[in-house]
This record gives sequence, C-alpha cells and structure tokens, in this order.
Amino acid sequence: MSLAQGRFIAFEGGEGAGKSTQARLLAEALRARGLGVVVTREPGGTPGAEAIRSLLLHPPGEAGWTPEAEALLFAAARADHVARLIRPTLARGEWVICDRFVDSSRAYQGGAGGLGDAAVTALHAFGSDGLRPDRVILLEAEEAALAGRLSARGAAADAIEGRSAAYHRAVAAAFHALAEADPQGFARIDALGSPEEVHARILAAIADLIP
Ligand code: TYD
Repeated sequence: MSLAQGRFIAFEGGEGAGKSTQARLLAEALRARGLGVVVTREPGGTPGAEAIRSLLLHPPGEAGWTPEAEALLFAAARADHVARLIRPTLARGEWVICDRFVDSSRAYQGGAGGLGDAAVTALHAFGSDGLRPDRVILLEAEEAALAGRLSARGAAADAIEGRSAAYHRAVAAAFHALAEADPQGFARIDALGSPEEVHARILAAIADLIP
C-alpha cells in the first residue's frame, strides 16, 4: 500500500479537442515521476460500462434512446466504472485519468439535451455517491478549429457526435458555464497549439496536485 494519495483527473470538452492525446501525455509525465496511473474513459472503462457504451453510441432501433433513458444509461455505466475501477484505483494510492466524466453528462444530457443540471446531478449522487474529480481539465477551442480536426479524423459520427451544430454549441456553452461556476474544480485550457504546448499548459494547471 503506497502512502501517496491517488488523484482523480478528468478531461472534458467537445469532440476533437484532443482529450485522448492529452490524457496519454499526462499519464506518461506522471509515470515518469514514479506515480502509478490508470488511464480510462467514459462511457466505458469496465466490461459492463463498455457494453453500455455500445448501446449509447449505436442505439438498437431507429428511434434511439429518449433523453431520460440516455441519461440513465450514462449514469449506470458511470456507477459500474466508479465502483469497479475508479474508487479501487484511488484507494491503492494511484492516479486515475479519465477521458470524460460526469461533467459530460451535465453538458450533453443536462445542458444541450435539456434535462437540466439537477436531474443529472441527482443520478450521479445515486449511482456514484457524487464522486468528483480532484481537477477537471476543460479543453476549449473555437468550433471552426475543432471541425477541421474532426474531418481530419474521418471516422463515421456516432449517435451523439452526429447531432446538430446547435447541439454541440449548447454543449460548449454548458461546459463553459460549469467551469465559470467552479473555478477551483476546473482548469480551462486552450486546446489550440501543438500537443506538447497543450500538455505543458495542463501540467502547469495540476502542478499543485503532484507530490
Ligand atoms: P467518444 O468517442 O468517447 O468521445 P470523443 O468524441 O470525445 O472521442 O464518444 C463519447 C460520446 O458520448 C461523445 O459524443 C460525448 C458523449 N457523452 C455524453 O453525451 N454524455 C456523457 O456522460 C459522456 C461520458 C459522453
């Protein structure tokens, strides 16, 4: 059992902001300092949550999920992930770096999807005892720059990525509002620049958490 304290970092932002690349770079930097690090993602991260992920991103049937069912599925996937992977890792004294967490549900389902923050927060309280990251890294960039990165990525859009530009603008506005309301909990990071430049901004934004 390590004496070091495990820390929980979540990466958030719109599609194409570079969350996965930056999660990997941060994990490498922390491991180089001798820290144990688990990198994971949402929806997913455990076998059960990965199964729910495919239901969410590729809904069976034409109609897709209702907004309420969608929010419940995200919360269910998160409950499994928190109980089976995130809390045990933190309890061992290791770091968890998660590509998206509950603030994605607050921005997508609560904000853009219209369910409201109270409903999403209540689901998280029930499902995951309200677990919060030690810091949320919000990667922010202009819509036009992200659109360019997404078309370069070239993968077919999933059920959520494929929603309207207005939906994704509402997601970005909701993330912005969440960060403004909790300046201690969120670090807003400019996502434009080389991966190394963005990585340096992120390291500076969590420096106070590194032992
Ligand atoms: P993914 O391909 O992992 O995301 P990204 O585009 O960031 O690489 O797909 C996850 C999708 O699910 C993405 O469109 C955001 C959405 N999502 C929600 O709507 N609510 C949530 O709580 C989470 C975790 C993700």
